[in-house]
Amino acid sequence: MTTTAQEAPPGADQARQADFDAKVAANQRIEPRDWMPEGYRKTLVRQVAQHAHSEIIGMQPEGDWIASAPSLRRKAILLAKVQDEAGHGLYLYAAAETLGIDRAELTERLIEGRQKYSSIFNYPSLTYADVGVIGWLVDGAAICNQVPLCRTSFGPYARAMVRICKEESFHQRQGYELLMRMMEGTEGQRAMVQDAVDRWWWPSLMMFGPPDADSPNTQQSLEWGIKIDTNDALRQKFVDMTVPQADKLGVTLPDSELAWNEQSGQYDFGEPDWNEFKQVVTGSGPRNAERVARRRAAHEKGAWVREAATAYAKKHQNSQEVAA
Ligand SMILES: [Fe+2]
Ligand SMILES: [Fe+2]
Repeated sequence: MTTTAQEAPPGADQARQADFDAKVAANQRIEPRDWMPEGYRKTLVRQVAQHAHSEIIGMQPEGDWIASAPSLRRKAILLAKVQDEAGHGLYLYAAAETLGIDRAELTERLIEGRQKYSSIFNYPSLTYADVGVIGWLVDGAAICNQVPLCRTSFGPYARAMVRICKEESFHQRQGYELLMRMMEGTEGQRAMVQDAVDRWWWPSLMMFGPPDADSPNTQQSLEWGIKIDTNDALRQKFVDMTVPQADKLGVTLPDSELAWNEQSGQYDFGEPDWNEFKQVVTGSGPRNAERVARRRAAHEKGAWVREAATAYAKKHQNSQEVAA
């Protein structure tokens, strides 16, 4: 008699669970064909999809500035950066597909508002200094979040993160370099940089998610090796890394409570406005409707490309079958 997954012999689930637990505990990767608990699969689908959506929606605030970049050099850098983000989205949708969920289905969930993406991309980019500040702070926060994910327990996700992180570090540097140049410029340019920092600082801190006390899934995700550090630990790491960079740049971070704490060897800092975070993450941020509408329009406009690619693949497959 053959045994299907539904008719597994008694004790098989416990054995698989034990095997899974042992692999996670030994920091070995779980691969798509390995058995995994349903909750692990579901949590990963949600996390990887949200991450993929963030990369794709994240192209919009900076993409708005490609046509008005101030020089050919800046345009080339910005184009390359925005294209990288499209690539990140693709790696991550591909990683999600290994969990048995189709990219088309995930896109539907995004444009119907059933899946989230990072709250940060619902803020507007008002001046060219925003391009620099997004690179410095937003990609900087993404690096803090993502470097530990290179060691996450799910193989395809961890491998995607290795490549993504290399590109994120270029993104952060191009932003910082842009800001350095602006700070060497006119009084007006310096004021633009400071204004952009004032607007993006708190939303950047919110990128790490709610405080640990309000993050009920964190413990389970840590045990599964899906998450490596808590939200608060990553936020602290980001602040400690960023304050000296702000000093060097010559900007002020808009937090009166920000101060070096000799005892803890870390910076103390103020509390982000978590009500604002909840509003933005649940769809009522300054640009939520616009971002999703634009993604939906691009998806609908691209329908003919998907249809043509499917028809071509079918034709190609048929001709191969005839030849065989
Ligand atoms: Fe990215
Ligand atoms: Fe990036």
